[in-house]
Amino acid sequence: MLLLHLSDVDEASWAEKLKAALAPYPVVQRGDDFDPAAVRYIFVWKPRPEAFDGLDGLKAILSLGAGVDALLKHPRLPDAPIVRFVDADLSQRMSDYVVAHVTMHHRLYTRFRADQKARRWSQLYPPAASETTVGIMGMGVLGQDAAERLKPLGFTLRSWSRTAKDIAGVEGFAGMETFDAFLGGTDILVNLLPLTPETTGILNYETFSKLRRGKLDGGPVIINAARGGHQREADIVRALGDGTLGAASLDVFETEPLPATSPLWEIENCYVTPHIAAISNEATGVAYFSRIIREHEAGGALVNVVDRGRGY
Ligand code: NDP
Ligand code: OXD
Repeated sequence: MLLLHLSDVDEASWAEKLKAALAPYPVVQRGDDFDPAAVRYIFVWKPRPEAFDGLDGLKAILSLGAGVDALLKHPRLPDAPIVRFVDADLSQRMSDYVVAHVTMHHRLYTRFRADQKARRWSQLYPPAASETTVGIMGMGVLGQDAAERLKPLGFTLRSWSRTAKDIAGVEGFAGMETFDAFLGGTDILVNLLPLTPETTGILNYETFSKLRRGKLDGGPVIINAARGGHQREADIVRALGDGTLGAASLDVFETEPLPATSPLWEIENCYVTPHIAAISNEATGVAYFSRIIREHEAGGALVNVVDRGRGY
C-alpha cells in the first residue's frame, strides 16, 4: 500500500493520478480508512510530526522534493530508505531559472535598467560570455544540467563539489581546500548545493569577498536557487550595499515566506522570487514514483536513495 502525505500541494490530484498509474496496487490518503501497518511506501512533502507513526512495515519513503534537508530533520523519521525526486523536467525548470538569471546579470541588467529610469545614455559594453566565468557550487543532477545548458551560450564554466568531477568544458574544483581558488576566478556564483551541516551559511560575506572583481561592472553576482539556509541574509544586504556584490538573485530564504520586513525586498540590485525556480511536475512525478514502486515490488533495487551519512 502507498500512503500520500503531501502538505502545501494538491494531494488529492496526486492521489488520483497515482491510483490510475499503480492500479490495482492500493493507494490511500491520510483521511482514508486503512491499517497503518499495511503501508509499504509513504510519499511525503513537509510531513507533520505524526506522519510516520504506526508505519511499521515501511519499505521506502518517497520524497516529492529533490532536497531532503527538512525531511532528514523530522523528529520521528523511520529508518527506511529515502528516495528523492530526480527528474529531467525538474532539471529543465531549474536550468531555465539559472540561465535566465546568469544571462540577465552578464548583460548588466541592473545598470541598464537604472540608466533607463534616469533617461541616461551611457555606453558600456558587457564582457563576452567567454570572458565571464560562471561558477556552479554543487555539481549533482541540477548543477550538471545547468552547466550543459550554459555551455552552448559560450560562458566559461567551473564547478565546485565534494568529490572531483571530470566534465568536458567545465573546470572542476573539489573539496574545501579548493574553495578559495574556485571563488577567485568566479564572476557569477550559482548555488545548487544540498543543505547539510557543511554547506549551511556558505553564502556569507567572506565568501562574497573572495569572488573575482573587475570583470562584471558593479561587482560579482550570486544566484541562490538551492536553500535559504545556505545564505546569511544580513551579509547579502551588507555586500550589496558596499559593492562587494554587484547583484543577487535569490529564490530561497532563511525564513519562507520572506517576511514583509526583510530589507531584501527593497534592494534595487536584489532579485527576489518566492521559491519557484523549479517545481516537481505531477505528470513526470507520477511516472517516476509509480515506476519506482512497481520495480521495487518486482524485486528491483531502489534508485536515487539518499545517503543519510552525507546528508543528501
Ligand atoms: P545532488 O545530490 O544531485 O547534487 C548535490 C551536489 O552538491 C553534488 O555535486 C555534491 O558533491 C555537492 N555537495 C554536497 N555537499 C557538498 C560539500 N560539502 N562541498 C561541496 N560540494 C558538495 O542534488 P540536486 O542537484 O538534485 O539538488 C541540489 C539542491 O537543489 C537540492 O538539495 C535542493 O535543496 C535544491 N532544489 C531547489 C529547488 C528550488 O525550487 N529552489 C528545486 C529543486 C531542488 P558530489 O557530487 O561530490 O556528491
Ligand atoms: C525541492 C524544492 O527540493 O522544490 O524539490 O525545493
